[in-house]
Amino acid sequence: MKEFKIAVILGTRPEIIKLSSIIRELENQKINYFIIHTNQHYSENMDAIFFEELELPKPKYNLGIGSGTHGEMTAKMLIGIEKILIEENPNWIIVQGDTNTVLAGALAASKLQIKIAHVEAGLRSYDRSMPEEINRIVTDQVSSALFTPTQKQSDILYKENISKEKVFEVGNTIVDAVIQNQELIEKHAKFNHYKNENYFLLTTHRPSNVDNKENLTELIESITEISKKYKYFTYFPIHPRTKKQIENFKIQIDQNFIKLLEPVGYLEMLALEKNSRLIFTDSGGIQEEACILNIPSVTLRENTERPETINVGASILVGHDKEKIKNAVKTMLSSGKNWLNPFGNGDSSKKIIKIIQSES
Ligand code: UD1
Ligand code: UDP
Repeated sequence: MKEFKIAVILGTRPEIIKLSSIIRELENQKINYFIIHTNQHYSENMDAIFFEELELPKPKYNLGIGSGTHGEMTAKMLIGIEKILIEENPNWIIVQGDTNTVLAGALAASKLQIKIAHVEAGLRSYDRSMPEEINRIVTDQVSSALFTPTQKQSDILYKENISKEKVFEVGNTIVDAVIQNQELIEKHAKFNHYKNENYFLLTTHRPSNVDNKENLTELIESITEISKKYKYFTYFPIHPRTKKQIENFKIQIDQNFIKLLEPVGYLEMLALEKNSRLIFTDSGGIQEEACILNIPSVTLRENTERPETINVGASILVGHDKEKIKNAVKTMLSSGKNWLNPFGNGDSSKKIIKIIQSES
């Protein structure tokens, strides 16, 4: 009889973080699995640092794909993943989120009739100009088990005629990651200084914000003016895409107000988030983490596939418009922080692995 086997496919920073608790669970339960890393992210501080810090095993396969156009990247991944899946013949693949790695993994597996577990299924921004929206829709259509964070995403999938038997509401594995790493942060005395500083935190990497000169300029100007007004400086761990665009567009950053950092490891990021007064972000993961850590945030997007953070009062959706950002800061700084985390209580990975086993 064929031995039960799972392939975990990942490629970018948020996938490594959000799959870390699933990988730990597979290890703990001694389940037969292996990791395929597409290497969509490859810089040391976007990739290797997370495997080290989160004590994850080295991927069995690394496809070394790197950056490229969407078609080029996805096509190369598809070829590489298909070869491995044919050779290894796993029963399931697990993918997480909405990147090109997820799309390639899901397409390769679906043609080989290998079951697909999609973690963080059912999210929709209803904005098809976002590459991630296409990846989500296609992946959900071909998945065998769709793991949704909240009832909202389950309802979205039902409306898209996805069979109820395939949909499992399990919370978001980001809660597992935040909880599992709290103790480790406290152990790292080198992050303690953040406790004594007064600052805001900024991250941005969405093409709609950073690939457009006017939008990126307006965003940087807004944050600089807000930092001046509130006498809080802003830490800005900068995504490589954004760094490249700031250089391309020759945008000046006043480092008296915006302190640039290279991308930081996960423990340092959690320490930065926990001790910040307010977070400006267009990141999906950070939007969720801010909500979980009870830190107010301002979502630098025109739309969101994570409306829960807005609905519970943890964030305001603003895009890149200066006045809207300023008003949102005023509101978020004066409102309470007593919302409840809607993303579950940190046992998502355990639930996901249990369901995959029972569906096999
Ligand atoms: C990708 C995902 C996005 C996710 C984000 C997480 C897609 C379509 N996009 O966006 O959904 O939110 O990851 O961070 O899958 N670069 C480096 N080093 C790296 C990685 C990237 O220098 O390790 C630079 C390259 O110049 C590259 C650019 O960043 O061209 C963009 O990388 P890419 O993976 O295409 O998209 P992200 O913006 O990272
Ligand atoms: N993150 C990190 N270091 C950084 C910036 C982000 O560890 O310098 C973490 C962050 O805490 C979150 C994840 O990376 O868990 C979010 O990744 P990103 O913003 O790149 O992508 P998204 O979530 O928008 O897909």
